[in-house]
Amino acid sequence: MSSARALGTRIAGCGSYAPSRVVTNADIEGMVDTTDAWITARTGIRQRRVAMNEKTSEVASKAARVALSDAGVEPGDIDLVVTGTVTPDMVFPSTSCFVQAALGLRPGIPAFDVSAACSGFLYALDVADKYVRGGAAKKALVIGADVFSRIVDWKDRSTCVLFGDGAGAVVVAATRGEGGILSTGVHSDGRKWEMLYAPGVACSNPFEGKKHHPNPHTPYLKMKGNETFKVAVRTMLSAVEEVLEANGLKPGDISLLIPHQANIRIMGAIQERLGLSDGQVFSNIDRYGNTSAASIPIALDEAVRSGRIKKGDIVVFVAFGGGLTWASAAIRW
Ligand code: UT7
Repeated sequence: MSSARALGTRIAGCGSYAPSRVVTNADIEGMVDTTDAWITARTGIRQRRVAMNEKTSEVASKAARVALSDAGVEPGDIDLVVTGTVTPDMVFPSTSCFVQAALGLRPGIPAFDVSAACSGFLYALDVADKYVRGGAAKKALVIGADVFSRIVDWKDRSTCVLFGDGAGAVVVAATRGEGGILSTGVHSDGRKWEMLYAPGVACSNPFEGKKHHPNPHTPYLKMKGNETFKVAVRTMLSAVEEVLEANGLKPGDISLLIPHQANIRIMGAIQERLGLSDGQVFSNIDRYGNTSAASIPIALDEAVRSGRIKKGDIVVFVAFGGGLTWASAAIRW
């Protein structure tokens, strides 16, 4: 007797967008005490894109349009929008609401953002996967978008050289076919928030005196680079192992690992510990830097378009970011 296959999810299409303004390491040499040689050797970054009068919802909408078209899905078919971002245009409305309006998605559908810094896209993917798997949505638009050029301190050489702007998006659709999103894992440890954070705009009400904000004069991103590096390697490694084990897979089964593009040395350490070949790990950090929540979906879009991912491949995403947060996903393409 045949029975219907359980409802699953798959990535039906993807897209990305990066602002056209290229800022090279040489450009930054003229701004802070750094060199192209240091940035390239310590991070793998050669250039990044920087938004010129473009908001996060605008870069997000551009990536999302490409993803809809790639999936062959009409705006009216989308019944959920989730955006991973920590640089929304405004405190509210959410970036997802702006995208909903810009793309002419159906009024009435749920649209909201998730705040998980560089893990934001995978958190958003996890939420959409659960909505679709549970039957609450058939097609979801999942976006990772950030414009960190607005929150880094361009006088701080230890952070300003690292980041870039951009957006990536996927359409997650219900499927009863084989493969698709096999599993996701999302994690956080708020005790370690001070390793990587951005206080944002300082504000207080007149009843609080001066104590309200921990550091009202510096709204910019701050990072303890060295400590963050070590935790990033450890948590991303465990997150990859988690989704492999959940599906009875081994590192050798990975066709392509797409890690969050934070530092080429972090990716190298993970590659080495998992025993992966160069061909199994995707990197485009040299051209984009760390684009936070946009990093994985931009890399995915490039990997798909350049033929690095084929039907049946095992693709693994893994990310780490402020919060602290870390997350992973395994997909049979
Ligand atoms: O996406 C979220 C997750 N983010 C990450 O995972 C990033 C993790 N951290 C890192 O990628 C690295 O720690 C950095 C790239 C941020 C820094 O590299 P590092 O090898 O850990 O350098 P360091 O912080 O230990 O600094 C080494 C030296 C210091 O000088 P002294 O004290 O040895 O004289 C820094 O002041 O490098 C100096 N330095 C720089 N020199 C030239 C720091 N930034 C720069 C710079 N140019 N931009």
